[in-house]
Amino acid sequence: MSLAIDVRQVTMLFDTKGQRVIALEKTDLAIPAGRFGSIIGPSGCGKSTLLRLVADIMQPWSGTINVGDAPPRQARRDHAIGFIFQSPTLLPWRSVRENVELPLDIVGRTSARAATRTPAELIELVGLKGFENSLPSQLSGGMQQRVAIARALALEPEVLLLDEPFGALDEITRQRMNLELLRIWAESGTTALLVTHSISEAVFMSDTVYVMSPRPGRITTTLDIELARPRELGMMRTQAFFESVNKVRDALFGREAGSLPDGAPAPVETY
Ligand SMILES: Nc1ncnc2c1ncn2[C@@H]1O[C@H](COP(=O)(O)OP(=O)(O)OP(=O)(O)O)[C@@H](O)[C@H]1O
Ligand SMILES: [Mg+2]
Repeated sequence: MSLAIDVRQVTMLFDTKGQRVIALEKTDLAIPAGRFGSIIGPSGCGKSTLLRLVADIMQPWSGTINVGDAPPRQARRDHAIGFIFQSPTLLPWRSVRENVELPLDIVGRTSARAATRTPAELIELVGLKGFENSLPSQLSGGMQQRVAIARALALEPEVLLLDEPFGALDEITRQRMNLELLRIWAESGTTALLVTHSISEAVFMSDTVYVMSPRPGRITTTLDIELARPRELGMMRTQAFFESVNKVRDALFGREAGSLPDGAPAPVETY
């Protein structure tokens, strides 16, 4: 199976005011094309750093990264990477349609990447038909984040990177956004890598959950999630779901500290 993201032995250091922080140490991560992966780990362990390295927003100190067959720089130039940040970062003076069209304005509408879906179709895909002419300030936080998703999909990226995209949303909106993201991911055929702080969100969304250790961060556990697709909210009540949640919890906190006896239903944290 071909890999959409291939991170090998990546180390990342930051030097600020004579102080050296090792954000990532010899980290490996391999995500096959078309899969949905999540990264979970304590605050400051290097999750955002890892995503930024994959997106070529910064470059590793050592190690190699490939996105598809190309290094991140080339993948970024080819517009093969879509990035969704925690806050939607929309241009406030542009309407929904104009925000979604922004990447096309940059690369040119005749670009090969801009082929399949029109901005109108993307707006429909994220459920914002009828709001094309609204300004970001006239939308709720969840709607703004959906515009950001449509914008990220405008150039049909092979890889979609999401850094806690729904962290600021209330629980009901967040669940709805999760279901929509899964639908959009399945329809678009892209590979997704989601950073989240929520164990249940990671399990619910993913084919594979990557657990990171505290700083210096590295992926210490890789867990495949054996839940059928399409995912439905009712699956969060199943034994298989509880077991996966417990496994992620064990990997994060250690078995004694964080887990319950085998077979006991876990108190799944809400999000
Ligand atoms: N541009 C930077 N300059 C200096 N240090 C940085 C920079 N970016 C990140 N760091 C440091 O690298 C470490 C990892 O940061 P990172 O933002 O990747 O963590 P994170 O896992 O995303 O945390 P959180 O869950 O809180 O978002 C931290 O100690 C942080 O202070
Ligand atoms: Mg972060």
